[in-house]
Amino acid sequence: MEFRLFGSSNRQVPVIGQGTWYIDRGDRARAIAALRLGIDLGMTHIDTAEMYGAAEEIVGEAIVGRRDEVFLVSKVLPQNASFSGTIAACERSLTRLRTECLDCYLLHWRGRHPLEETIEAFQALKGDGKILSWGVSNFDVPDLEEAREIAGEDGLVCNQVLYHLQERAIEHAIIPWCEERDVAVVGYAPFGHGRFPGQNTPGGRVLQTIAAAHNATPRQVALRFLVRRPSLFTIPKAARPEHAAENAGAGDLRLSPAELEMIDEAFPRGSRPQELPVI
Ligand SMILES: NC(=O)c1ccc[n+]([C@@H]2O[C@H](COP(=O)([O-])OP(=O)(O)OC[C@H]3O[C@@H](n4cnc5c(N)ncnc54)[C@H](OP(=O)(O)O)[C@@H]3O)[C@@H](O)[C@H]2O)c1
Repeated sequence: MEFRLFGSSNRQVPVIGQGTWYIDRGDRARAIAALRLGIDLGMTHIDTAEMYGAAEEIVGEAIVGRRDEVFLVSKVLPQNASFSGTIAACERSLTRLRTECLDCYLLHWRGRHPLEETIEAFQALKGDGKILSWGVSNFDVPDLEEAREIAGEDGLVCNQVLYHLQERAIEHAIIPWCEERDVAVVGYAPFGHGRFPGQNTPGGRVLQTIAAAHNATPRQVALRFLVRRPSLFTIPKAARPEHAAENAGAGDLRLSPAELEMIDEAFPRGSRPQELPVI
């Protein structure tokens, strides 16, 4: 598994991590086994959120005895993101996750509470040792600018945003903005939240051809494309151990410039949208 610096956090984080949205909807023991296998295989970045139902509790169980191996991320809902609401939400997440500290805490998306309050709460949580770093999610460039203006240069470590082969809008402005300021870009829903290109589509055939040359799978090729720049990380969700194993296999795959170009042509990034796409 390849690790790289996570923005300005000074932490080495695997390029392929593990998402957990909907992980509480199926077989709990299997989901825990998938997360644990993922950790064994190097996918130690685990992304969760207070929004994800019982997912935090499942993660808490999966990391018992292994907390030190994991880069643990959770998120506060915008409606809770006042100063006191953020502190209280973090405390609840820590309890569900059975830990005393998060590696990174994110604002899930912008809501009605002033960003100043949320960031002040993040800084207080950091001061108290409850979180080691903080970031945002679903922020477009004007929101990022505002966050940086409030926090100064050393606050924001990541922006978690929608990024998969058929949705490359962040490449226009968000990735360049983040790269210039040493902010990690964590791409979510790398398989399109269950809409991965089929084998019989033109794009699917391109992935298949490249995969065959590497003794890999189309999903591994896709994941690798999504972390092809040094600022990028991805967090596929897998509630099945066999899926976790396949995803982890992308961690050491390397694609040639010609292969990256083939994928770029098969899944064009399109023109810059008016608004940042989100799930
Ligand atoms: N910040 C935000 O607003 C935001 C929004 C959306 C998502 N996220 C984060 O990003 C994570 C990933 O996104 P997502 O869960 O929406 O979608 P996703 O990772 O694109 O897709 C998940 C789906 O892909 C399947 N899958 C995973 N690996 C597979 C494999 N190797 N072969 C076949 N199927 C495979 C999963 O099946 P199984 O589960 O059955 O294995 C699941 O049905 C989330 O879980 C969450 O942590 C953040």
